[in-house]
Amino acid sequence: MSRSRIAPGSTIGVLGGGQLGRMFAMAARRLGYRVHTLAPEHDTPTGQIADVEIVAPYDDLDQVRAFARAVDVVTFEFENVPAAAVAAAAEEALVRPNGAALEVAQHRIREKRFLASHGLPVAAYCEVHSEADLLEGVARIGRPAVLKTAALGYDGKGQVALGPDTDPVAAWEQLGRAECVLESFIDLAREISVIGARGVDGSTSFFEPFDNTHRHHILDVTLAPADIPANVAFDAIEVTREVLEGLDYVGILCIEFFVAKDGRLLVNELAPRPHNSGHLTFDACRTSQFEQQVRAICGYPLGATDLLQPAAMVNLLGDLWANGEPNWAAALAMPDVKLHLYGKTSARPGRKMGHLTVMAPTAAQARDRALAARELLLSRAPTR
Ligand SMILES: Nc1ncnc2c1ncn2[C@@H]1O[C@H](COP(=O)(O)OP(=O)(O)OP(=O)(O)O)[C@@H](O)[C@H]1O
Ligand SMILES: [Mg+2]
Repeated sequence: MSRSRIAPGSTIGVLGGGQLGRMFAMAARRLGYRVHTLAPEHDTPTGQIADVEIVAPYDDLDQVRAFARAVDVVTFEFENVPAAAVAAAAEEALVRPNGAALEVAQHRIREKRFLASHGLPVAAYCEVHSEADLLEGVARIGRPAVLKTAALGYDGKGQVALGPDTDPVAAWEQLGRAECVLESFIDLAREISVIGARGVDGSTSFFEPFDNTHRHHILDVTLAPADIPANVAFDAIEVTREVLEGLDYVGILCIEFFVAKDGRLLVNELAPRPHNSGHLTFDACRTSQFEQQVRAICGYPLGATDLLQPAAMVNLLGDLWANGEPNWAAALAMPDVKLHLYGKTSARPGRKMGHLTVMAPTAAQARDRALAARELLLSRAPTR
């Protein structure tokens, strides 16, 4: 268990079964590793690529232990794995990133405390454990503000905006009076993300920031490079480095940042895993975020992260299936379009089903091509 280098031919265990695990498993397999996955569902995007798919709830600790016993290192593609499952896995195998880092990143109150204690910039916020906290917080922070559940939020779920006329208590009721953070609503110039990796030897490596546009709180388009001043990119990477070091992190971590209209760079949240905004690294960077995760957790040197050409990624949500199967042939008729699908069989609205990546001489051109390709998915197949 004290070995730091896990050689190709060894087995990597992935907790979680989604598309992040799928693309990680593809990268791991290319490097000659075997992959096991554990998730509560059968035939998951990760399970379709893995050598072994174990179907078990994360709180079935005996199954988690058995899963960990059969692998050389355990990692995650999903951060909401219960702490007890991570601890059970750690009894049997190396777990990278470590459970403490995961606990910080999966809980907004712990995350804010960690960031604030390291002097890292966050929006004004307060912890909400009671109605009194909430009312004091609204008085201190002002409006507009956003109330977010401390645990288990994703894609904007578990959030309520507090406008000038919102009753804060009613908003909190909507979130089931769960533990929350209340944070100031930031007037955004843009949103960026930095994906960094830290190896077993403490070495670090970063992708240049990505520019992210959300729709209905879900990532819609990522562009690389981000059109931001060099000092903002530098600061975002330095913040990411401090977080990796502060968490004694091994693996890939993404930080989502706000760039406020007044110029401030603020940390929004941490993702202790590969990230949707890094999907374009698969096609457009010398080393993908997924390969970097393999290198980091297996104790190998990190790969070069340079962008080979400006690129854009657009997400394909289940909504595209509303009128039947998308017109793949029409989009693929654009020969520069890279189509990635996650093997999900039911296309619910808002569900991430796949993405498209396009590279071009500029990020704006790549975006226009990618958006055009996504439009073509909705076109009717020509009738014969
Ligand atoms: N304080 C804020 N000020 C302005 N916009 C915000 C604020 N908080 C959240 N948003 C908007 O809502 C989006 C989702 O918020 P956040 O990242 O906190 O949620 P999430 O549900 O954890 O999403 P995910 O984990 O899928 O990224 C942000 O990317 C941003 O566009
Ligand atoms: Mg987010």
